[in-house]
Amino acid sequence: MSLWNRHKIFETNSIVLLIGILIVISIGGLVQIVPLFYLKSTIETVDGMRPYTPLELAGRNIYVREGCYLCHSQMIRSLRDEVERYGHYSLAAESKYDRPFQWGSKRTGPDLARVGGKYSDEWHVDHLKNPRQVVPTSIMPGYPFLFTTPLDYRYIDADMKVQQIEGVPYTDEMIAKAEADLVAQASLDDPGIDEMVARYPKAIARKYTGTTTPSGHITEGDALIAYLQMLGTLVDFKLYDNKANIR
Ligand code: HEC
Repeated sequence: MSLWNRHKIFETNSIVLLIGILIVISIGGLVQIVPLFYLKSTIETVDGMRPYTPLELAGRNIYVREGCYLCHSQMIRSLRDEVERYGHYSLAAESKYDRPFQWGSKRTGPDLARVGGKYSDEWHVDHLKNPRQVVPTSIMPGYPFLFTTPLDYRYIDADMKVQQIEGVPYTDEMIAKAEADLVAQASLDDPGIDEMVARYPKAIARKYTGTTTPSGHITEGDALIAYLQMLGTLVDFKLYDNKANIR
């Protein structure tokens, strides 16, 4: 049988062709993916990474609920234009406590992986209430209700428990103190602030929106801004600078 005739078996029988395609693609996939399970660099631990504080986690839940990820990515690629615009490219370790991950797949707005500390809390309040107030040409929708809606954190400990089962290193103590830590981080003078920071290094306690609901309750806006302000701030990139990887 000539080579052409053997090839004909594939070209004249769609099922055989399909099976052939599947075999070839799986070999290609395995060759690319399997080594990643063993390479040290893909599971590198990075100093500074810690799980989200309860307030940040609550903010992250609002980020997911409102679908911010549909317009914003959180993954800076190692391409020169991205690094110059957004900062150091994202490390795998930076999303290791993100369940589900928030890399996103579309950038209608800018990448947010390093937005923490870029603007003041007041800027975020104005921007989230009505983006046009601070960026006249913005097409981002406003979320004014976040600043009048009390944050529902009754189940934040259960949420952390689930994250713990999924492998996020929340301790039982962190889960037991979840509500207290959440309240402490949203205040300026709560007696529990030091304890909270000891559990979550670099966590910053303050009144993120400067406002509370008429009943004095923490708002959803507080949680969301606490989350936005910590994004990309945990790793000290003086230790990890590696320009050679930027293309
Ligand atoms: C319809 C798409 C869209 C959605 C949904 C959206 N944004 Fe945006 N966002 C944008 C665009 C476009 C910009 C750039 C213009 C501006 O700054 O308003 C932006 C800018 C931002 C910025 C400023 C980033 C920077 O580096 O200047 C932040 C922070 C932000 N968005 C947060 C959010 C959050 C939080 C949510 C969810 C509550 C959200 N966005 C939902 C489109 C969107």
